[in-house]
Amino acid sequence: MDHFLYKNGALHAEDVPLSEIAATVGTPFYVYSTATLLRHFQLFDEALAGLDHLVCFAMKAASNQAILRTLAQAGAGMDVVSGGEYLRAKAAGVPGDKIVFSGVGKTRPEIDLALTGGIRQFNVESEPEMETINAAALALGVVAPITIRVNPDVDAKTHAKIATGKSENKFGIPISRAREVYAQAARLPGLQVIGIDVHIGSQLTDLAPFEQAYQKVAELTQLLRGDGHDIRRLDLGGGLGIPYARDNQAPPLPLDYGAMVKRTLGHLGCEIEIEPGRLIAGNAGLMVSQVIYLKSGEGRDFLILDGAMNDLIRPAMYEAYHDIIPVNEPAPGVPAAKYDIVGPVCESGDTFAKERLMPPVRPGDLVAFRSAGAYGAVMSSEYNSRPLIPEVLVNGDQFAVIRPRPSFDEMINRDTIPAWLL
Ligand code: LLP
Repeated sequence: MDHFLYKNGALHAEDVPLSEIAATVGTPFYVYSTATLLRHFQLFDEALAGLDHLVCFAMKAASNQAILRTLAQAGAGMDVVSGGEYLRAKAAGVPGDKIVFSGVGKTRPEIDLALTGGIRQFNVESEPEMETINAAALALGVVAPITIRVNPDVDAKTHAKIATGKSENKFGIPISRAREVYAQAARLPGLQVIGIDVHIGSQLTDLAPFEQAYQKVAELTQLLRGDGHDIRRLDLGGGLGIPYARDNQAPPLPLDYGAMVKRTLGHLGCEIEIEPGRLIAGNAGLMVSQVIYLKSGEGRDFLILDGAMNDLIRPAMYEAYHDIIPVNEPAPGVPAAKYDIVGPVCESGDTFAKERLMPPVRPGDLVAFRSAGAYGAVMSSEYNSRPLIPEVLVNGDQFAVIRPRPSFDEMINRDTIPAWLL
């Protein structure tokens, strides 16, 4: 459920008409709903009620300061994957003891940053990384809390580019070698082993792969405890999918996911962490764009928008489907028309949808891409020298620009000219 609904014939974000935002900031832009962000965070929090738990938002999905602050104020921790994300989380007011550090290649400066500023735990992804964290902790005279990310060799049944839990993927250490690697970690004085981490992929629409992975983690917990390790925290990663097409079968709800977690891991008495990104932010955001031209091609009509692949790369990168709906509510019974919906960037990959049936629209009309709140703005670029598009946050009947559109001068002046060219 989200808070983007038609009211009096016009699509709103909560109580604000999108056309009003467009008139203020221009198009294209991203817009997020506070109520949806909070509702999705609370769904997870409630789903794990009864377990000692922390929901750490995977801020790679959406990392604007205002979004992070909204979630942090509701009690969320953060899952970060770079020094930049760590500093963004801190800047948004998240304390170090609510930040977990994931990622397959943490550098020494990033590790130092987190050890100095405070960290809940590092999710270690390899033996060499473990040694670097140990060395960094010893040099700073601290002890680094760690979990080790195990790769359970489970097929997440999602898009190949976002599956992470098979043995051919670069993530984690093979679960078959876990005991050996935990023994090694226990010998390093700069580390304190506190738990196990697993994350098998993103946009999972079935609970079965999660359950398989978590069962393996449950078995491993017992084994490692038997080996003398104090396993008291399980980080279960993110990955629960969202409905992108409204007529699709809906993926499992956080409540079902929580029940499965309790069923497979509840008896272990561990603190549970999860790292959802997409489910919290995905359907809490839209990208709004304007139709520039309607062009009739051979046997097809192209809808040319002012938004492009640099603004929302998911269709080009993952063949991802996004619902695209007119901001002016179509009159009931209007026959749908078929369009290829494209942006102005100079490559054929800049295609959002092919032969998409939608109510007829005209140049000047606004359209909204649904489910664009996660992995939308954060993956955008200035390809074709198109300045990053603005982000707007709505809260009830208020809205605020939370990242302005840079001017062309700002964009150009980021480059510097070497002395020999002056
Ligand atoms: N934890 C770890 C260690 C991750 O690598 C990820 C996502 C998450 C949590 C959050 O997963 P989520 O709950 O959002 O599914 N750009 C792609 C998605 C990449 C996901 C990468 N890792 C897309 O647009 O679909």
